[in-house]
Amino acid sequence: MPTELGRLRLLEEFLEPITTAALERTGIETRWRCLDLGAGAGGVARWLGKRCPDGQVIAADIDVKFLTAEGNVDVREFDARTDDFAPGSFDLIHTRAMLMHLPERVELVSRLRSWLTPGGWLVATDPTGFTSASSPYPEWRRLMDAFWTLMTAHGGDPLWGRQRLARTIAESGFAEVDMAIHTVVVGGGGPADRFWRAFFSQVGPRMVDLALLTPDDLAAGVALLDEPSFFDSPDAFVTVWGRRPG
Ligand SMILES: C[S@@+](CC[C@H](N)C(=O)[O-])C[C@H]1O[C@@H](n2cnc3c(N)ncnc32)[C@H](O)[C@@H]1O
Repeated sequence: MPTELGRLRLLEEFLEPITTAALERTGIETRWRCLDLGAGAGGVARWLGKRCPDGQVIAADIDVKFLTAEGNVDVREFDARTDDFAPGSFDLIHTRAMLMHLPERVELVSRLRSWLTPGGWLVATDPTGFTSASSPYPEWRRLMDAFWTLMTAHGGDPLWGRQRLARTIAESGFAEVDMAIHTVVVGGGGPADRFWRAFFSQVGPRMVDLALLTPDDLAAGVALLDEPSFFDSPDAFVTVWGRRPG
């Protein structure tokens, strides 16, 4: 979709402080070999490339059209469901807003562990939809419910971040596991508003086609983003980090 690069850049803009804080928490070193899996528009991979000037970064994605190799950042076309890296290839693996979409996510976390060197870190972030049910805006609830239903129909799990991400990482043999949650605020015209507006311009017609909401519901939900008094929270981002023992 022509709006996709803009949407990915907005996602990068509002998640950058959360992600870089989590990556710094690992004690990241300049010589580390890093993987950004599902690298999207490449913002995190570029940050890792600069942060690890004596190391190497692979930006891997099933769709590499927005990724360019530069400096110590290489690009790899890679399907996380079926492709593999050699055991012990990385000191750090980052993946964001990808696991929740893949039905194979639990098994994939074990494979991520095998790609890490002993002592290597996994940092994984996924949104979780638990805040929309308590929204005071019925129009916003209808919009978000339709979106989470669409995601579920495509094999995604809207609650994976809160309900399973940390547990899966801990049960997959990681140590020093911990979790942080950052709630997203919409309203006030910030990057999250611009993200959701771009996103609903992409998925809105599909949700209407599938009768998950009416065209009027779609318009009423999106119109809230123009109301100066509208402030709410559609979701939160759950970040979990853990270390391969050894
Ligand atoms: C919502 S975007 C997130 C992009 C980036 N991680 C970020 O947070 O800015 C999800 C990304 O995962 C990628 N992706 C989806 N399925 C994948 C798969 N099976 N293997 C590798 N990448 C995949 C998509 O192409 C897309 O770039």
